[in-house]
Amino acid sequence: MLPTHSLLLPLFGSVASAANLWATHYSGTINYLTFSGKDLKLSSSTRTGNNLPSWITYDGPGKALYIPDEVFYGPSTGNLVSFAIGNNGTLTPTGKAPTPQGVVATALYGGADGKGFIANAHYQSSQLTTFKLPLTGAAPQQTLKYTMNGKGAVPSRQDAPHPHHAFVDPTGDFLLVPDLGADLIRINKIDKTTGQLTECSPAKTAPGTGPRHGAFWTPATASSRVRRAAEGTTLFVANELANTISGWSVSYPSGGCLTLTVKQSLTPYQGNSSAATGTKVGEVHVKGNFVYTANRNDKKFAPNDSLSQYTISSDGTIAWAGISSTYGTYPRTFDINKAGDFVAIGDQTTANVAIVSRDPVTGKLGDHVADLRISTVGTPENEDGVSAVVWDE
Ligand SMILES: *[C@@H]1O[C@H](CO)[C@@H](O)[C@H](O)[C@H]1NC(C)=O
Ligand SMILES: *[C@@H]1O[C@H](CO)[C@@H](O)[C@H](O)[C@H]1NC(C)=O
Ligand SMILES: *[C@@H]1O[C@H](CO)[C@@H](O)[C@H](O)[C@H]1NC(C)=O
Repeated sequence: MLPTHSLLLPLFGSVASAANLWATHYSGTINYLTFSGKDLKLSSSTRTGNNLPSWITYDGPGKALYIPDEVFYGPSTGNLVSFAIGNNGTLTPTGKAPTPQGVVATALYGGADGKGFIANAHYQSSQLTTFKLPLTGAAPQQTLKYTMNGKGAVPSRQDAPHPHHAFVDPTGDFLLVPDLGADLIRINKIDKTTGQLTECSPAKTAPGTGPRHGAFWTPATASSRVRRAAEGTTLFVANELANTISGWSVSYPSGGCLTLTVKQSLTPYQGNSSAATGTKVGEVHVKGNFVYTANRNDKKFAPNDSLSQYTISSDGTIAWAGISSTYGTYPRTFDINKAGDFVAIGDQTTANVAIVSRDPVTGKLGDHVADLRISTVGTPENEDGVSAVVWDE
């Protein structure tokens, strides 16, 4: 295992009573931030060993972090690295494994606790790879390589399959992968014991949709898989090329694969007005009966971009509720804390983490309460600046 070089900076205030966050920067670091409720400060910055750390999979109860490598030029492979989180955010490397190029997201799945294996979505190299945990340096357990017959409706972005996210459904039985290049939401059945994935029929989006990220919403009343399906479990997908959010009804035919039926698509704006040219809708997150998208490069609060809020009704349909500033440009990433009273926004190009208040009852985003620039700013449309932010809780 390679040693990591950790730069410990002075800590301000009481770490125990503060909220903390992790943020990766494409220059190669993972950064530990302390939020007092008013101020956001850098506590430590650690080199991940990756060329382009692109994502954080955070395991709170297990006190672990997984960080993949988006490297898409230069070396032909990168590394998926794991760390144990110790006191005051100290990180100890616990494993790594070589991966093909271009990992943009990872997800834990399978095993007895949903954390037995990890899947990697490779945008650059059109594949999904999996590893059994802990990482030992061994090659992937499974590789699903995707192909297309010709280019898609947006040839510049749909030259090949581009899996962009991987996430597990509420039952833990299926791993879903939005494929921006192929206009598919790929669905895999999980063997929880072996970690083996079996491909199901994918859901097809309209040509040129470019599905990027997804998040499930389950009605609070649902108590079993059957009830979840009957009562409106909905998958929300952020579409980077169409610049919309789509709601998909989720069904669980007995003994079969999860199936998806699209029921609704909305733009990020009031009256379903279209996004400005150059907008790239990115992440989507659900909290309670609200769903949010990050609208990169829409410049709605020029020079800053926007987040959109939608309310989710009991049958899973959504209605636009508002937009608010991201206080920086190119919001690649955002995370809502457990209490639901703060949202951390990772603005990629301006390389800042902006914290805004959130009303847990109405879901409305409010004041810009704290901000921190991390390392060097990026350049528009480049893979530099802040890549991911998560609350440490
Ligand atoms: C955490 O950091 C604080 C401030 O530097 C220090 O007082 C405390 O002892 C540390 N706690 C542990 C468990 O290392
Ligand atoms: C909103 O606009 C999108 C993009 O043009 C379109 O696909 C969708 O059908 C529209 N939705 C409604 C409810 O009009
Ligand atoms: C954009 O965000 C920056 C950084 O947080 C902030 O200082 C500035 O006031 C914002 N500009 C607008 C127009 O909201």
